[in-house]
Amino acid sequence: MGKGELNFPFEYEELKPEERHEIQKLFKCPYVDYISVGPKKYKIQRRYLEEAANIYNMPLRKDDIFVLTYQRSGTTWTQELVWLLANDLNYETARAIPLLHRYPFLDIFFFFSKDWKDYCRKNISDDETALKILEQIATPVTNLLLSTPSPRMIKSHLPLSLLPPTLLDNGKVVYVARDPRDVAVSSYHHSRLFKVLDFSGTFKEFWNLFIRDLFTLTPYFEHVKEAWEKRNHPNMLFLFYENLSKDMPSVVRRVADFLGKDPSPEEMSRLRDHLSFENFRKNESVNMEDLKDCGLLAKDEKFIRKGKSGGWRDYFDEEMTQQAEKWIADNLRDTDLRFPTHK
Ligand code: A3P
Repeated sequence: MGKGELNFPFEYEELKPEERHEIQKLFKCPYVDYISVGPKKYKIQRRYLEEAANIYNMPLRKDDIFVLTYQRSGTTWTQELVWLLANDLNYETARAIPLLHRYPFLDIFFFFSKDWKDYCRKNISDDETALKILEQIATPVTNLLLSTPSPRMIKSHLPLSLLPPTLLDNGKVVYVARDPRDVAVSSYHHSRLFKVLDFSGTFKEFWNLFIRDLFTLTPYFEHVKEAWEKRNHPNMLFLFYENLSKDMPSVVRRVADFLGKDPSPEEMSRLRDHLSFENFRKNESVNMEDLKDCGLLAKDEKFIRKGKSGGWRDYFDEEMTQQAEKWIADNLRDTDLRFPTHK
């Protein structure tokens, strides 16, 4: 797997034909095509294989900052917070340069198979701006990162085990976790938002893929537990979305301490205002509305969506609620990981 002589220790397997069939029936885009990677069986789009070894062996720098999450756990929110603290609260630049350009995104490329261009032209958008944006995000960033000036800020949804093994001995990692029920609801909407996925099933059908580890980068709990095990490493800051939501000041303070920054009370107050859901939603540098304007996103969904903890209750029937309780309890049995919402 991967390139030439580079070390990549994991094998991959194909999914069972009936699993592939079930997934492909629910996503309208024909390129949703997972393989199962390594002993934890992470489900990843097939194109990952081209870059797996390059990512695993990417050269690191001591001042790298990674923001890592399972998707829809508050990545964007945390990225903006980290970026501003690390860049002396330079709001002007934060406004001027979209977050996507401030943080190379290690794993976005794998959603685009080789012939994505034809598919996009025919099925999504033939707008030149759209195709240019897609060209950019369909290109792996490991090369770009070689010439990115320090300090580099890097976004990834890959679990730690698929990233360079010396990551924590070099750069800093901020990992954010979120109640998996809210992650599932948010991921369901996200899969409808991006026309490159185009999920056409119900939430219940999505949930059934999610808890059976048949969605991108599941198994969810393996992902979170890998980071949780490293939470006491001095270069790891482990956060929960729910705490950011409930008590932003103390989380902002923790992130500032982690990055060796000491914002004044006035600076903290402006930062909290900037990061509030209402302001964030309107912030064009982070809200991805430009992708909607050029036809890449569904009109009736939003990237910065509801911003609530516990919103899952509106989506789960009694059977799903009980199923979730059991699934969470089973997965927390062998760990002291606990979500703030699930004590
Ligand atoms: P919902 O879909 O539940 O609203 P990610 O950035 O990892 O994709 O996470 C997206 C989730 O974080 C979405 O959750 C989004 O609305 C929420 N989010 C983004 N910015 C936020 C903010 N400033 N305050 C609260 N939630 C925010």
